[in-house]
Amino acid sequence: MGEIFQIPPEKTPQHVAIIMDGNGRWALSRGKPRLAGHRAGTENLRRIIRASVEFGVRYLTIYAFSTENWGRPPAEVKGLMHIFENVIDQELEELHEEGVQLRHIGRLEKLTPKLHKKVLAAIDLTKDNTRLVLNIAFNYGGRDEIVYAVQNMLRDGVSAEEVNIELINQYLFTVGSPDPDLIIRTSGELRTSNFLIWQSAYSEWYITPTFWPDFDREEYAKALKTYAERDRRYGGVSDEHYG
Ligand code: FPP
Repeated sequence: MGEIFQIPPEKTPQHVAIIMDGNGRWALSRGKPRLAGHRAGTENLRRIIRASVEFGVRYLTIYAFSTENWGRPPAEVKGLMHIFENVIDQELEELHEEGVQLRHIGRLEKLTPKLHKKVLAAIDLTKDNTRLVLNIAFNYGGRDEIVYAVQNMLRDGVSAEEVNIELINQYLFTVGSPDPDLIIRTSGELRTSNFLIWQSAYSEWYITPTFWPDFDREEYAKALKTYAERDRRYGGVSDEHYG
């Protein structure tokens, strides 16, 4: 507790997006199978969702499974599907009570019909909640999202003259969520990995060497504090830099 409450609401990011990386290395460093890392990562996710509510973050987007993750060994892919299903089975009621609205970004079609149905039911159950919007990126890819948007624009007969930034925003999976203010990537890699590539145009990045299962409330608070100290210029110049 403590320090975080010194951050004024206007300096708190409205939308935080997280690349939850390092589960595999966390497990390896403990001599455990990779799936144990994903399970520990899931436990941590519960903590970070709660901390987001506490810190006044309004939108949280988490990268749980990318369009490229299908290339992992089948047992790991299957394990991640199970984890997603378990999260819905075991956490939905509590998340709903806490006022969390679940949304999904990515393609649901490729998931099993059972999981697909569960996700839709969870979205429907929580659709009127307003405390925190939780976007779960599952079978999500930023390039795939742009393909999806262009395909749907063409299907809708949008003309070349009508295309602008605002219209593209309306066709993305993330419609209804503001652009992320802060993107956190754990485990130290310096890349975007096809995550929110359109929406992150002016996001601030926070990269920490900590593996995702160890990225706790205190580290999260530190990331928010760092964000609060940033000078966001959106391509402009801040007043103190004028000569
Ligand atoms: C990256 O670590 C992590 C993932 C690909 C999966 C993240 C998923 C969870 C934390 C749980 C999922 C939660 C839901 C809601 C489904 P990595 O395995 O690439 O780690 P490594 O780079 O150390 O190998």
